[in-house]
Amino acid sequence: MSLTTEQVLVIRATVPVVQEYGNAITVRFYENMLREVQDLNNVFNKTNQINGHQADALAKVLCAYANHIDDLGALSPAVERICQKHASLYVKPGQYEIVGAYLLQAMKEILGDALTIEIHDAWAAAYQQLANLMISREAQLLKEADDWSNWRDFQIAAKVRESSEITSFHLTPLDKQPLPGFLPGQYISIRMPVPGFHYLQARQYSLSDMPRADYYRISVKKEPVLNLGQPNAKAHPGYLSNILHVEKSVGDILQVSHPAGEYFLDLRQKELSDGPVVLISAGVGLTPNLSILNTMTAKGSKRKISWVHATRNSSVQAFGNHIQKLANEHADVRTHVFNKEPSEEARQGVDYHFKGRMSLQKLHTEHDLFINDTRALYYICGPEKFMADMHNVLRNWGVDGERIKLEVFGTG
Ligand SMILES: Cc1cc2nc3c(=O)[nH]c(=O)nc-3n(C[C@H](O)[C@H](O)[C@H](O)COP(=O)(O)OP(=O)(O)OC[C@H]3O[C@@H](n4cnc5c(N)ncnc54)[C@H](O)[C@@H]3O)c2cc1C
Ligand code: HEM
Repeated sequence: MSLTTEQVLVIRATVPVVQEYGNAITVRFYENMLREVQDLNNVFNKTNQINGHQADALAKVLCAYANHIDDLGALSPAVERICQKHASLYVKPGQYEIVGAYLLQAMKEILGDALTIEIHDAWAAAYQQLANLMISREAQLLKEADDWSNWRDFQIAAKVRESSEITSFHLTPLDKQPLPGFLPGQYISIRMPVPGFHYLQARQYSLSDMPRADYYRISVKKEPVLNLGQPNAKAHPGYLSNILHVEKSVGDILQVSHPAGEYFLDLRQKELSDGPVVLISAGVGLTPNLSILNTMTAKGSKRKISWVHATRNSSVQAFGNHIQKLANEHADVRTHVFNKEPSEEARQGVDYHFKGRMSLQKLHTEHDLFINDTRALYYICGPEKFMADMHNVLRNWGVDGERIKLEVFGTG
């Protein structure tokens, strides 16, 4: 049921309140819900609870929703990203009722008497409207996933060291059924129990190779131990990446969800465009772009491809030889590697091209970046600050936002 005109006005009038108290509300919401509905600790990312990122992401979305309550189309990209992630984690329609109840309860606790019956009812209706929209999109995504609508057991078939901190895992389904394809750039979720936390935890990993029927490949960076500088800080080295690197071996079983995500190059049909593709990444952010690159070259794409990558040093640089080989074999592939601290053995012009941080200004705006080609697509993945910087440079050069895709390896 859609909102009444009065309810739309009430929601709009509460924008400043959501801006000011949104974070306090969502923090309280998660605290209450995860304390009282303990099973949901298997669903939510514990680290994003500890560091507040998930509460922050939800507060921002609620604020944007209130702001665009009469223009929901503006929220489509954000809602699509959330629905893809929910579907990848198999969020159930029935769980929306629980979330709605705890969200309204948290509003009551934080806003007190300021939450009048009128505001309460308008937000209850607004929540239901958003929930219905998301439930229906998530059902559609699961339908499109060829009935892969729950966690499925996969075995680690190979574990391959790609650099001092990145290791690839080849994952084969236990039921030996041929794997569905995916759009290069998409991710899967991996779920496993976390000893010490006593609940299951899931994380997303981009598929790092081209689609194939026998296995999926992910490439995982081992998260370092974090020193928060306080004696009792609730920091830990990063749950899943460390379990994968240190404890999991060939033959071990993991739970895997179907490929999902809205960061991809669509190569399903005959290529609709012959425009260039610029793949910009830093560190482990290279994984989705590598899938795009591998798929395009394997399919014999004639599109021009620029591979632009930044690495901290030679020891952490992954897939360097593979990228170089592709560039040697495919005249349409150009590579530009920025290395902050190349080792003495690293060869300039082969292993890396520029010493230092990535600077798009060092590349040729036409031959390398295709700035004036309005068909060119840009895929950026890396730390958020890096992505924002690269995005700004491209926008300042006049690239329209719709042709720039970003993949955040986090929440929100
Ligand atoms: C769409 C998508 C695709 C992704 N693709 C890849 C990929 O291809 N390869 C890849 O390696 N990763 C990828 N990621 C990231 C991945 O999902 C995980 O987030 C990553 O592996 C870290 O998970 P973890 O369980 O090891 O660490 P977490 O337990 O989630 O911890 C994350 C970081 O937080 C730190 N931390 C711990 N406690 C605290 C605290 N109290 N305060 C602040 N910080 C704390 C940890 O030390 C760690 O560095 C992707 C993420 C997304 C969303
Ligand atoms: C209208 C209701 C909801 C809204 C607005 C909402 C919003 C969000 C947002 C903004 C994110 C972050 C997405 C990203 O990574 O960019 C997210 C992630 C997530 N949501 Fe929801 N959500 C809703 C309902 C639910 C429900 C019902 C569940 C299931 C109990 C759920 C479980 C999750 C989980 C597990 C994640 C990933 C958490 C993480 O990685 O930290 N959400 N949601």
